[in-house]
Amino acid sequence: MNNLTDAVSALSTTQGPWMCVERGGPAQARAAALLAWDGLPLLVPDPALFAARHLGVGLGLIRHEPLPVDAPDGLSPHLPPAARVVGVPEGIFGPTLLGEAADPAAVCAAWGVDLAPDGPAVDAGCGLGVMARRMALAVAAGEREGPVLAFDRAPAMVRLARSSVHDSASVAFAPRSRRELAPFGPALPPLPAGAVEWAVGDALRPPLLPGSVAWLHIGNLLDMVPEGPAAVLSALTPALMPGGLLTLSTPFDEEAAPLPGGGPDPVAELSAALREAGLHEVTSQDPVPWLIREYDRGWRILLCRCVAARLPLRPSGARGRR
Ligand SMILES: C[S@@+](CC[C@H](N)C(=O)[O-])C[C@H]1O[C@@H](n2cnc3c(N)ncnc32)[C@H](O)[C@@H]1O
Repeated sequence: MNNLTDAVSALSTTQGPWMCVERGGPAQARAAALLAWDGLPLLVPDPALFAARHLGVGLGLIRHEPLPVDAPDGLSPHLPPAARVVGVPEGIFGPTLLGEAADPAAVCAAWGVDLAPDGPAVDAGCGLGVMARRMALAVAAGEREGPVLAFDRAPAMVRLARSSVHDSASVAFAPRSRRELAPFGPALPPLPAGAVEWAVGDALRPPLLPGSVAWLHIGNLLDMVPEGPAAVLSALTPALMPGGLLTLSTPFDEEAAPLPGGGPDPVAELSAALREAGLHEVTSQDPVPWLIREYDRGWRILLCRCVAARLPLRPSGARGRR
């Protein structure tokens, strides 16, 4: 189960514009030089080193990185478990607690279906594959054309997402404690194998051919990458095709404490990073509450900013033919 294989069979059925990060070019053409873990292609720089470091494979060890579970921050409201299940919650978070409000994934999915051109859709830093599932459901419903790709840097997370999306009537799973996952969120139907193409990859060295992606989603990843939002956006944007759409959601829950008189404005920083990456904001919504399970202590609501931004058809400054 934990053995590495070459990535030939893992990539043999993929249609998506996966790239070999190490050598460039389509990953499918380089499959023999790549590795797969449990059927998941490792599309990272130096896959053998990655496997040794992050999976313990090749060193006679079996080691899994723990699932990435983020830590609570000092600002978000914490709610006791009873808030979700007893009575009818009142107040501004009532619809969120009842699962009736559009969460960040629902907001961004609606934009993607409406505004993205047809073609490959990618869920980058996919976690449990919440957006990949929505993208694939849109393809199944004839609302757009595929393929749908999803990748995350954490191998165990991709494996869990794959089984969550294809093997069960999706209840998504959220950490209940450090060792236990609990069902969470609205049930969405399971999808057939192949509806989403999965891989292990790093958003800072994305395994995507340049100019190939019609709809790229970055869900709640920007605040988790130490290099910062601008680094993630500048690494991922070149994968977009001209006219392609980026959707993103991000909670502004960095650990920095609020400062008297205010600190740096994260909204302005995000807009600047989008502009710097060559993207034009099309629409945004803020705040969009995101309800997540907080270990076994209750629920946490993060307030997210959701943005849709487009890569222009021509680079800025370029002139059309007269
Ligand atoms: C908070 S989760 C969000 C998951 C999902 N996108 C969502 O919105 O539910 C952040 C995910 O980003 C992944 N991640 C962190 N750094 C990454 C990187 N450099 N490249 C790819 N994924 C990364 C983590 O493994 C984790 O699964």
